Amino acid sequence: MIRLTDLRTGYGRAEALHGVSIDVHPGEVLAIVGPNGAGKTTLLSAIAGVRPVWSGTITLDGADITSTPTANRVERGIVLCPEGRRIFASLSVEENLRVGAVSLRAKGSKTSPKEAIESAYERFPILGERRTQRGGTLSGGQQQMLAIARALISEPDYLLLDEPSLGLAPAVIEYVYEILGALKEGGLAIAMVEEGAERALAFADNALVLNSGKIVLEGTASELSSHSDLVTSYLGEH
Ligand SMILES: Nc1ncnc2c1ncn2[C@@H]1O[C@H](COP(=O)(O)OP(=O)(O)OP(=O)(O)O)[C@@H](O)[C@H]1O
Ligand SMILES: [Mg+2]
Repeated sequence: MIRLTDLRTGYGRAEALHGVSIDVHPGEVLAIVGPNGAGKTTLLSAIAGVRPVWSGTITLDGADITSTPTANRVERGIVLCPEGRRIFASLSVEENLRVGAVSLRAKGSKTSPKEAIESAYERFPILGERRTQRGGTLSGGQQQMLAIARALISEPDYLLLDEPSLGLAPAVIEYVYEILGALKEGGLAIAMVEEGAERALAFADNALVLNSGKIVLEGTASELSSHSDLVTSYLGEH
């Protein structure tokens, strides 16, 4: 389990998370929703170790990882699929995947990078067809698949997913969620950020609403769905 206790962090002198406590359980899907600037990306970045924590703690199965470097968290099974996908535009699909496979050896995985890349192509056939194509020339949906495939290649236990449906056409969003559904079935824990609540709540086990750096609502996803008017009032939709 990943446990955040009273986590505070921010940018410069501006605190963006004002004491956030969360548990992410093995195998669960946790939806994190909230309006622009709520601190969703900051929260995932802190869990991944790409944003230093000011105070509070992060533990993984009881071990303190608050100051553990990102690469080490990847080896321990916590992987971020960042907002805006952040694939390497000038590298080919396969080269992007190879970057993701770097941690396999450090992790002591039995899977070789080659095998890991082949299984990524099995999961995402379109990436196999485009293995020599530059990342930057893929469509938005294909780039999202590549970003997810790259994150998965290091065999995470916890996938931190920042706005997977951002900027994608509805049919492509459907496809991305189908893939996420298969991963969930396979036992992967996913902490996912989405701006629109409806789909994320339908998919998740548990959910929380983040607003101005604080958790303002939390519960099971179905509890939050049944209070959708309250949830939307925080999101500033409609
Ligand atoms: N690089 C940065 N430098 C300074 N302030 C930042 C930076 N990134 C985020 N912030 C500020 O931190 C707060 C939280 O931002 P964050 O990006 O975590 O929000 P978010 O919920 O992910 O928003 P969005 O829905 O727009 O992605 C905001 O007030 C934002 O302006
Ligand atoms: Mg964000």
